[in-house]
Amino acid sequence: MVKPSVELLTKEEIEKMRVANRIVAEALEYLGGLVKPGISAWDLEIAIREWLQKYYPTAKAAFFGYRGYPAYLCVSVNEEVVHGIPRKERVLKEGDIVSIDFGVEYYGYYGDSAKTFPVGEITKDIKRLLEGTEKALEEAIKQLYEGNQLENVAKTIYKTLKKYRLFPICKYGGHGIGRKLHMEPFVANCPGVGPKIKLREGMVLAVEPMAGLKTSKTKELSDKWTVITWNRTPAAHFEHTVAITEHGPEILSKLD
Ligand code: MF3
Ligand code: CO
Repeated sequence: MVKPSVELLTKEEIEKMRVANRIVAEALEYLGGLVKPGISAWDLEIAIREWLQKYYPTAKAAFFGYRGYPAYLCVSVNEEVVHGIPRKERVLKEGDIVSIDFGVEYYGYYGDSAKTFPVGEITKDIKRLLEGTEKALEEAIKQLYEGNQLENVAKTIYKTLKKYRLFPICKYGGHGIGRKLHMEPFVANCPGVGPKIKLREGMVLAVEPMAGLKTSKTKELSDKWTVITWNRTPAAHFEHTVAITEHGPEILSKLD
């Protein structure tokens, strides 16, 4: 594999990344509050369009128009793993889970984060799916320090998911982020998949573990975006944008 050239951001640039990512964090908090039985994936899409226009009219939805993607949000329900196009017909019901993924561009810099929310009461197994995938993200973030190998991020995600008896989804993963939504390097969720590089201060990475409760095998729907598990069992997805600083990892897409 050819070594990717990874851009390093200055402290000033990381400050701009912080602002963009804070908008994303606030948006996800707002959307999480709307998640209830009876609301549709499309309702969430409409809600965020209005919210962004009202509070951050100069921010741009990062996904909208990206390679032709048709919405502000990715809303992935139950068996949908990632890149779910929000639809009117997909109405949330008690016991479902919904992953909401949102990104913005704000004055040239990007924010990107995702979280899987429970809809009312969920089963013990689905709780394990959410807890394990979120734990994988937390543990992976601890690996983001100067001098560490990127491969240790993948190893950590994989191991943590296994510990929770979950199925790591290796086909998709995270990415560098900065003045573009997707930059090098690919941040793999499984060992042996991504580039072997050393982490450096100034790198900003979107880490996004995905896991299935019963399978790691996925397929793409005919809409060319929505990724589902092949046997339609549930999957979860959590994502943060994180800067590697002299003080270690700093989660930019988090409200303090
Ligand atoms: N966070 C997701 C990713 O980085 C969202 C991308 S949706 C797309 O892959 F439309 F922009 F591709
Ligand atoms: Co991302």
